[in-house]
Amino acid sequence: MTAAASPTNPKPVIIDCDPGVDDTLAILFALGSPELDVKAITTVCGNVPLEVCTKNALKVLELAGRSDIPVHPGCDRPMIGEPIFGKFHGAGGLGKLVLPAPVTKPQTLHAVEKMAELLRAAKADQMTLTICTLGPMTNLAVLIKLYPDLLSAIDRVVSMGGAYRIAGNRTLTSEFNMLADPHAASIVYSAGLNYVALPLDATHQAMTSPERIAWFRGGEPGSPLAATHELLSGWARNDPKRYGSDGGPMHDPLVTVYLVAPQLFQSELAHVFVECDSKLCYGQTVADWYEQSGEVPNAQIVQKVDADGVFSILSERIRSLSQSG
Ligand code: RIB
Ligand code: CA
Repeated sequence: MTAAASPTNPKPVIIDCDPGVDDTLAILFALGSPELDVKAITTVCGNVPLEVCTKNALKVLELAGRSDIPVHPGCDRPMIGEPIFGKFHGAGGLGKLVLPAPVTKPQTLHAVEKMAELLRAAKADQMTLTICTLGPMTNLAVLIKLYPDLLSAIDRVVSMGGAYRIAGNRTLTSEFNMLADPHAASIVYSAGLNYVALPLDATHQAMTSPERIAWFRGGEPGSPLAATHELLSGWARNDPKRYGSDGGPMHDPLVTVYLVAPQLFQSELAHVFVECDSKLCYGQTVADWYEQSGEVPNAQIVQKVDADGVFSILSERIRSLSQSG
C-alpha cells in the first residue's frame, strides 16, 4: 500500500514531462505542495520538440524560484516511428505565455540515466520514488528495458494518458501521449509496476470555466499565479459538443494533484492493452474491465474526478507558491 504524502514526510518524485501548457501547471502545483519533493524534471519529445520542452522546463523552474531542481533532457523521438507534436500549446509550447529566456542550463546526464541514478540511491537507502509521466512514456520505457533491477525502487507510476470510455483526442481512438509512443506505453503497462492512469475519461471532467479561472486572479506580474491565470485563460477549446462546455480540459495537473489529494479521484482496476499495430486504432488503450482476457490487472484507471476540488487545491497551492517565492 502506498503511503500517503504529507508535509512532514514529503514524497520524492521525478516529473517526466513535455512542457507544455498543462505540464507547466502540474509542475507549479508540485512545487507549491510540501507533500512532494521534486528530485528532478526529465523531459521528453512530445507537445514540442525535446529542446523546446527542456527550455520550457528551465523557464518554469526559474518562474517558481526553483532552479535548484535539475532538468535532464531525455529521448528526442519515440521508440519506433516519427515524432508527432501537440496542437494546443503553440510553437513555443507555452501557449501565449511569454517567460524570460532561461539563464540556467540543462544537465548533461540523460534523463534515463538520472532516473536510474535516483532509483539506485533510493534502493540503497531502502526507499522508493514515485515517477509522474506527463507526456509520451519513452524515457520510462527505456529505463525499464535498460535497468529492470531498479524497478523495485519505483513506488508508483502516475501518468496522464489514455482514453477508455471516451474518444481519443488525436485520433478516433487514441490520446496524444499514448499515440506519440504506443510501444513505450505497452512496455510500461507490461512491466508489472504499481500504475495509476489519469486518462481523458478523467481529465475531461476537470474543465476550465470563467468561474474556476477567476480563482487564479491576483498574482503579481511575473509570479507563478499570474502565469497560471494567463495559461488557463488561453486554454479554452470552445467545443461543447466534445467537452460538454466551452472550457479546456485539465490534463497533466490531475497527476500531481492525485499524489496530494487522492480523495478527489475514484479509479477502477483493470488490465490495459495498448494497440501498436492497427492503422485505425494505433495507440489506443483498451481496458479489460470485466477480466475477460485472463490477464492480471495492471493499472488503476481513474474514472471519476471532483473537478471543483481539483481547481480549488490547484489555485491554493500555486497561490502559496507565489507568496513563498
Ligand atoms: O492528451 C493530453 C496530453 O498530451 C497532455 O499531457 C498534454 O500536455 C499533451 O502532452
Ligand atoms: Ca504533457
